[in-house]
Amino acid sequence: MSEATLVLIKPDGVRRNLIGEIISRCEAKGYTVAALKKISPSRDLLAKHYAEHEGKSFYEPLMEFMLSGDIVAIRLEGNRVIEGFRVIAGATDPTVAAPGTIRGDLSRDWGTKVVQNLVHGSDSLESAERELALWF
Ligand code: RTP
Ligand code: MG
Repeated sequence: MSEATLVLIKPDGVRRNLIGEIISRCEAKGYTVAALKKISPSRDLLAKHYAEHEGKSFYEPLMEFMLSGDIVAIRLEGNRVIEGFRVIAGATDPTVAAPGTIRGDLSRDWGTKVVQNLVHGSDSLESAERELALWF
C-alpha cells in the first residue's frame, strides 16, 4: 500500500530558485510527485494548515512569512513517505539540521523573526490526510 504526504516548498525556497533542487531530492530518493501546483495561498488556508500553532509566539511571524510569496504544494507518494520525507527534510532549525538534508544543506539562520526552513512535510497519517484535503 502506498502512502501520500503533503510537501510545501515555502516562499524562501521559491524565491531562492530551489524548486528543482528540492523536487530532485524527493525523486532521487524514489518518491513520486503525484500532484503539484504553485499557489499564493489565502490567510484562511494557512490558518487552517497551521491551526495547531495558533497562539504560539512564532504564529504571527510564521503566517507573515508564509504569506510573503508563492508556495509550491506537492502530493508526494511512496511507502513510508511521511516519515521518509521528514528525514530528508531534516530538523526544523536549519542551523543544526544534519548535512545531507534539505534544510541542513540549503538553509541557515538569516536573522528573521521566524525560522525559514524551505519545506514543510506532514508529520503523521492524520496530518497528511487533513493537509492534502486542504491544499488539493
Ligand atoms: P513544518 O510543519 O513546517 O514541516 O515544520 P516542522 O514540523 O519541522 O515544525 P513545526 O513545529 O510544525 O513548526 C512549523 C513551522 O513554524 C516555524 N517555527 N518556528 N521556535 C520557533 O521559532 C519556531 N518553531 C517553529 C518553522 O517555520 C516551522 O517549520
Ligand atoms: Mg509541523
